[in-house]
Amino acid sequence: MSKKTHILAIDQGTTSTRSIVFDRDAHAVALARREFQQYYPEPGWVEHDPEEIWKDVLATAREVISKAGGADKIAGLGITTQRETIVIWERSSGRAIHRAIVWQDRRTAQTCARLKHEGHEKIVREKTGLLLDPYFSASKVAWILDNVPDARRKAEKGELAFGTIDCFLLWRLTGGAVHATDITNASRTALFNIHTQEWDDALLKLFNVPEAILPRIVDNSGHLGDTDPSLFGEKIVIGGMAGDQHAALVGQACFKPGMAKSTYGTGCFLLMNTGSKPVTSRNRLLTTIGYRIGNETTYALEGSIFVAGAAIKWLRDGLHLITHASQTDDMATRVPDSHGVYMVPAFVGLGAPHWDPDARGLICGLTLGSTQAHIARAALESVAYQTYDLVHAMRDDGTAETRALRIDGGMAANDWFAQFLANILDTPVERPTDLETTALGAAFLAGLATGVWQSTNDLAKSWKQDAVFKPRIDQDLRRNLLTGWQDAIRRTLTPAA
Ligand code: G3P
Repeated sequence: MSKKTHILAIDQGTTSTRSIVFDRDAHAVALARREFQQYYPEPGWVEHDPEEIWKDVLATAREVISKAGGADKIAGLGITTQRETIVIWERSSGRAIHRAIVWQDRRTAQTCARLKHEGHEKIVREKTGLLLDPYFSASKVAWILDNVPDARRKAEKGELAFGTIDCFLLWRLTGGAVHATDITNASRTALFNIHTQEWDDALLKLFNVPEAILPRIVDNSGHLGDTDPSLFGEKIVIGGMAGDQHAALVGQACFKPGMAKSTYGTGCFLLMNTGSKPVTSRNRLLTTIGYRIGNETTYALEGSIFVAGAAIKWLRDGLHLITHASQTDDMATRVPDSHGVYMVPAFVGLGAPHWDPDARGLICGLTLGSTQAHIARAALESVAYQTYDLVHAMRDDGTAETRALRIDGGMAANDWFAQFLANILDTPVERPTDLETTALGAAFLAGLATGVWQSTNDLAKSWKQDAVFKPRIDQDLRRNLLTGWQDAIRRTLTPAA
């Protein structure tokens, strides 16, 4: 029997990079994690250093390979990453020509507003399932080409390569042999047509992005390349790749239409499997590729919230209210309610369903009786209220009623939060035993390609429930809480939004 029974997953997120080795029972046997530097060169701008990301990927992957007993145990590697964040690098040297521009970055808000004003949103929406918002990659690509000296000329001559983080890592891991992105990450660029499943000429023209810099598009599971043998001692098959939210959909085994998951990382992203047909939202939710395995495409409807865990990070690093995120659990339960305090964490604008890039955060309802605990509780509550807005929009879009919402990511570990979420949604909330669902999804995709797992049915059997939180709240109280939230949102939106 082959020694190669384990899968390595690399989960490159917005604020941290993790590598995890899973065994064939889907148990994590080794984990390494590193937080990395965020750059805020101007208000609303967010950048990452691609070299730091690469260094952390290598260091964490090497650490877990060694803890798990060596590269000869690893049957395959799955990559999952933050989406929409872009890197442009020189094909000859592999050197990035600018820091990565992160999905949260708002520098192209004006460009998007202009395109919207000129009436282009309809076509973007029809072709990509997205909206005209700086969140997506296209306007960021054009920004780098127009602001780095000589970049546009070099791009047109084919000297530069563009990629989202998955693509950049695949290129680096294969020693520059493969320039490809997976279909889910491609579906977040606003350059990709989700119906034809190809890069779209009209969109490339609209955003002024030359075709010569684009990567090839690949399935989420398959033989995507081999790691450069000098990196880990021997070559490892790269068998899976997906945007982190799509990987979480797989990791949560949401393989049937109507199944939905919500991941609480830096932001919160709720994806519902809608089957083999794309569903268009009337409520400004996104239509996206859920995953494509063996040439079969599954679509998803997505609600994207830009700030979830980032609000708790802000309580820690910005306000110095706490020293560790887990303290919020204790603070929230110390008070019976938020005392009328609401926080709308629109630090980088508001995502779905409002899409207001100019909105900024707000704390309201403060009185002399307000304490740190009320503010911490309001921060946690805001994440549940925002999730409610997404679920409400999905219901209004006529999607299948979600029997339960599967949650994962850091905040899902907080029992108080999970219960409050179930109360506000008025829907059961299910939590799996392993909250590293994103990495598990990447491992699943790589394991399918390398024979560790045989089918999605096999994967669904590995999904194990840790707890289910059933709604337990008085309905009048629930309605009152939601009315207060809607009022806070109204105060936050910019008048034109
Ligand atoms: O669309 C952005 C998303 O992929 C980032 O995810 O987990 O880093 O908040 P996360």
